[in-house]
Amino acid sequence: METFKWKVNSTARKEGEKASVAFFTKEVAEKVRNFHQGFDLYRPTPLRVLNHLAKHMGVSGIYVKDESYRFGLNSFKALGGSYAIGRYLAQQLTMNMQDVSFEMLRSPDVKQQIGDITFATATDGNHGRGVAWAAQQLRQQAVVYMPKDSAQIRLDNIKATGARASITDLNYDNTVRYVKQTARENGWVLVQDTSWEGYTDIPTWIMQGYLTMVAEALEQMQEVGADMPTHVFIQVGVGSIAGAVQGLFASLFNEKRPITAIVEPNKADCHYLSSMAEDGKTRHVTGSMDTIMAGLACGEPNPISWGIMRDYSDMFISCPDYVSAKGMRMLGNPLGDDPRVISGESGAVTTGLISFLMKEEILQEARERLQLDEHSRILVFNTEGDTDPENYRRIVWDGAYPVPGIE
Ligand SMILES: Cc1ncc(COP(=O)(O)O)c(C=O)c1O
Repeated sequence: METFKWKVNSTARKEGEKASVAFFTKEVAEKVRNFHQGFDLYRPTPLRVLNHLAKHMGVSGIYVKDESYRFGLNSFKALGGSYAIGRYLAQQLTMNMQDVSFEMLRSPDVKQQIGDITFATATDGNHGRGVAWAAQQLRQQAVVYMPKDSAQIRLDNIKATGARASITDLNYDNTVRYVKQTARENGWVLVQDTSWEGYTDIPTWIMQGYLTMVAEALEQMQEVGADMPTHVFIQVGVGSIAGAVQGLFASLFNEKRPITAIVEPNKADCHYLSSMAEDGKTRHVTGSMDTIMAGLACGEPNPISWGIMRDYSDMFISCPDYVSAKGMRMLGNPLGDDPRVISGESGAVTTGLISFLMKEEILQEARERLQLDEHSRILVFNTEGDTDPENYRRIVWDGAYPVPGIE
């Protein structure tokens, strides 16, 4: 049965023994943002301040970084794929990243020097669309594989960039294994957002790419006159996004970093299970992982981000699908003059979760352990908009995934 499960992190290593966050510093974030700022389509995505919702929930502030506006692609993911491809091409040109711009990489001269490259990846939608989009922008090729039961519209959006894309009959993690092998056989460059032994550079660059989102959010909180967040809730699939978010917070604020909760669907809660095991090692979820949160349907943690999550997270939470459905309805139907946020299945779960944490008796202990109260300033990331518009409407209009006990 789907239910709330939570675990206070008990395996964080001591100061001095923690995972290094040297790849996720302010300086790296500046370099990455500088690269993204060179794209024609670059605009900081909005930070939405939901004052009425915060009051309703009994907290001081709720801040939603709305990545549905990122590069017209409806999700944050292209930040990672584009930066990793940029870094890879800079390396091919034996140039420093500071001296490389997107415009330069797409110029006919440079394209001629680099030659034709095919970038390959596995995706549940958003990452693959980002890689395919970046390859198209740079006049290169992309091949993308998706897990069984992926939404047709997500496949069509990837194909619309000119990439070769197809849906396999494998789950996400096996699709990753499949592309790893296929890329090797065909001499393609694998741009995967998770790591394994001997494959760490590109996944690290992808995580660094996400720093633009975090750096913008912190700057925007200052612009709206808010102090730094006291709490951050991050939804995870393989965990690369959380590694980047926590890496930058740890490197900027150290002991004063916000309280952080890692959020997953019940059906793919490999980080929660890893935390439950209390030995610091990862646990996997296998099978179909049929959650509505397609972007979070990953059963194997990225080892790079797991090290960071293990040392810097405060709580791991596993959620039923109706939590995300409620978050979608809440963000799409704001209170008072709060701005509306279109949030998809993988984007809305953290907002939905906060409402349950603040209101439900059964979560009182979790709320207290997280020190959530009227002083809390909570930052969440709407990591996708309605990337599957038909399912979005089914949930928001037809009330699919209702909250049990509520008519
Ligand atoms: C919309 C959305 N949110 C969050 C995530 C989780 O990111 P990660 O796999 O890096 O944990 C994904 C991953 O695909 C996603 O598509």
